[in-house]
Amino acid sequence: MKQLIIAIDGPAASGKSTTAKLVAGRLQYLHVDTGAMYRAMTLKVIERGIDLKDVKAIATLARSTKIRLVPREGSFGVELDGTDVTERIRTPKVTSAVSAVSMIAEVRQRMVQEQRAMGKNGAIVLEGRDIGTVVFPDADLKIFMVANQRERAARRSKEMAAKGIAAEIDQLEKEIVERDTKDATRSISPLTKAQNAIVLDTTDLTIEEQVEFIVKKAKEKLK
Ligand code: DC
Repeated sequence: MKQLIIAIDGPAASGKSTTAKLVAGRLQYLHVDTGAMYRAMTLKVIERGIDLKDVKAIATLARSTKIRLVPREGSFGVELDGTDVTERIRTPKVTSAVSAVSMIAEVRQRMVQEQRAMGKNGAIVLEGRDIGTVVFPDADLKIFMVANQRERAARRSKEMAAKGIAAEIDQLEKEIVERDTKDATRSISPLTKAQNAIVLDTTDLTIEEQVEFIVKKAKEKLK
C-alpha cells in the first residue's frame, strides 16, 4: 500500500500537534513535531549562555548538535545530544527565543536534513512551518491549519491551566502574534501556505472533526 507523506503547517497554537498526533495514530504513521526540534536547539543555545544575536556561534553549535525524536507509547520524546529534554523545551523562555534560533540558515539545514531522512519512506505526518513548502514540497497531502488568534490564545491558556500554570489570555495572544510575525517574515523558509495546501480553519471545529477531515483526505489519496 502507498505510504503517504502528510505535511501540516500553520501558525503557533493552531492545533497542529494534537491533530497531527491523532492523524498519525489513526493511520499508524509516524508523527514528527518539527517545532520540538527547533525548541531543543534553542534550549541548548540558552543553556550555553549564547547571545541570540550571535548567529556564528549558534551556527557552529548546530553543527555539533544531535537532536532525535524517540517514539514513545502514543507520543514521542525529544533527545538533545542523548539527554531527554521533552519537558524542558516547553518553557516560556524557550518559546520566546525559538523564533530567533530557527531563523538561522545552518540550524534549518541541520533540521531539514534530519526531517527528510525520517520521512524518506513515507508513512509519516510532519508538522511545522515549512514542511509543505521546503522540507517535502512533493508531500502527498498538505494541510495549512489556521484558527483565529483569540481562539488560539484561549486554547493555549487551557493547555497551560491543565498543567497547573496560570496564564493571561491577552498576554498569550500577544506572544502568539509576535512569534507568528517573526516566523512569517524571516528570509529563509518563512511560515507560509504552500500553493497546493488545503486550508483548514479550526476555529469552530472540534479536535475530532479536524482529525476526521485530514484522515478522509488521506484515504482519498490512498484510493
Ligand atoms: O510548533 P512550535 O510552536 O513548537 O514551534 C516552535 C518554533 O519553531 C516556531 O515558532 C518556529 C520554529 N519552527 C520552524 O521554524 N520551522 C518548523 N518547521 C517548525 C517550527
